[in-house]
Amino acid sequence: MIQEKQNKGLFSVKGFFLILLISLLLFLFEIVMHDIVVPEAVAAAEISEGEEGGNIEQSDDYKRGKKLYDGFCSTCHGENGDGKGHAYSFTIPKARDFTSGIFKFRSTPSGQPPTDEDFIRITKRGNPGTAMPAYGEKISDDDIMLIADYIKQEFAPELFKIEQTPYVIGDPPVATPEFISQGREIYEKSDCADCHGNYGRGDGEKGWKEDMKDAWGDRIYPTDLTLPWQLRNFASVKDLFRSLITGFDGTPMRSYKSDYSEDELWALAHYLRSIQIQRVSNSPLSIKKTNKIPASTYDAVWSDAEFADLVIGGKKLFGWSLVPRVTNARLRGVHTGSQLALMLEWNDKMPDRSKNKRTPDSAVMYFPSIIKDTDPWIDKGDRRTVFDVWKWNAADDRASEAVRKGSRESKKKRTDVRTVSSYKDGVYRVMFIRDKSTKTAADITFDIGKEIIYSLKISDGDNEEQGDRGGVSGQRRIILE
Ligand code: HEC
Ligand code: HEC
Repeated sequence: MIQEKQNKGLFSVKGFFLILLISLLLFLFEIVMHDIVVPEAVAAAEISEGEEGGNIEQSDDYKRGKKLYDGFCSTCHGENGDGKGHAYSFTIPKARDFTSGIFKFRSTPSGQPPTDEDFIRITKRGNPGTAMPAYGEKISDDDIMLIADYIKQEFAPELFKIEQTPYVIGDPPVATPEFISQGREIYEKSDCADCHGNYGRGDGEKGWKEDMKDAWGDRIYPTDLTLPWQLRNFASVKDLFRSLITGFDGTPMRSYKSDYSEDELWALAHYLRSIQIQRVSNSPLSIKKTNKIPASTYDAVWSDAEFADLVIGGKKLFGWSLVPRVTNARLRGVHTGSQLALMLEWNDKMPDRSKNKRTPDSAVMYFPSIIKDTDPWIDKGDRRTVFDVWKWNAADDRASEAVRKGSRESKKKRTDVRTVSSYKDGVYRVMFIRDKSTKTAADITFDIGKEIIYSLKISDGDNEEQGDRGGVSGQRRIILE
């Protein structure tokens, strides 16, 4: 139960304000840090002449390493390196406990410590989809090495005595269709799908049926490999190859180095790259005419329809996002001249469709139908704008409608929208179907050639996303042809 409660996305609402405070402090600290000028070369030269020889030099570096660590890293990784910083209860996954002697992201064989390059890479690029920030150029490589030396010395001295034999990863061979399909075959004959699902969306049964935990005792989930922006160890073919040969120590993701030849692992990496979603923003999205409204969410019509990908993000509070589980939604649409169907698609590792779930998965579409403002950005809190709201949730599996004005939402008595939905291989598809125009004044009317504004909210029940906690999109447009 406690575990479940913790699975609330990157930051829980409770923790949010604390994080806000911490980030403010970090920000202030950073300003202070920038004022420190360390003429390192000069200092080193002077000190080596000194009475106590290299010790003083080392201790200056040590002090600077500690200072940088305490300032930049300890909020999450803890003053003692045990991962129990102030943010301990609020980030998922938790910051690494450096004292555990286990590192996920290495270029070395399983069990060996990471290299200096690994430290630099992770500190500069962060771990996408987690709280681990990308420091970019904010900290110089030399300073990162001082922090790393401090971490090694203070928190994991035993581990770093082990000699490292890092893999040398060359440039990837050129991708050909044959090479990619060889990769697909390896994916199928290996055990990847047990955890990552048939199409890599993280929906494999092992991840959900078993209570999958990491070495630190926290619940973890197989990665949705189709969403490159949230791959922790990064998403290029070379990055994927690295993940496959090294595995992630401390997690069920093991090294596949001894299972396959180097060529086979490159093929697999190319296949994984080929299944990544490349977002297409497409606004206005053109809604083409067709003979009849498709009967199902996998009707042949949908494979030809244009689509638009919408970034789903957390609600912004004072510039901070509460990060939801679902991060992308795809919209397609067709119309017959009198009716239209808009189909939403998003990935979900495990559907929450049962009636007794407190929070089922849900999707909402907002259409500003009566616009009094000339501002093209229509605020949902604006009392002068009326929104036609279309809702669907997995437990009822049917549509309901509401009218929204300012922050007030009232249920519409008559529902003019119906839905057809499916969940297959980690993908939800929900088709909203309605006449182009209805009798209700607050309803949106879809005229041919007129741009219609819409936005979305997608909530993952398993992540207890309800009310304001669901992921939202920005405003985009569709146009009926
Ligand atoms: C806001 C919280 C936060 C801050 C600040 C932070 N980290 Fe992290 N860090 C994390 C989280 C969370 C992870 C774990 C990611 C995972 O397990 O997928 C992590 C992981 C890491 C890893 C990877 C460890 C491994 O297992 O391979 C390194 C290295 C690291 N952090 C270094 C740093 C350094 C150096 C700093 C300061 C310059 C820093 N972090 C600051 C949250 C943070
Ligand atoms: C027993 C379950 C399991 C199996 C089998 C498995 N994985 Fe994983 N995999 C995971 C988990 C769990 C993670 C995420 C670890 C974490 O939370 O940091 C992961 C992470 C990954 C990543 C890195 C994702 C990132 O964020 O950078 C890649 C790539 C990957 N797996 C590919 C594969 C491939 C390809 C196979 C088959 C050859 C495979 N996995 C087999 C459980 C598994």
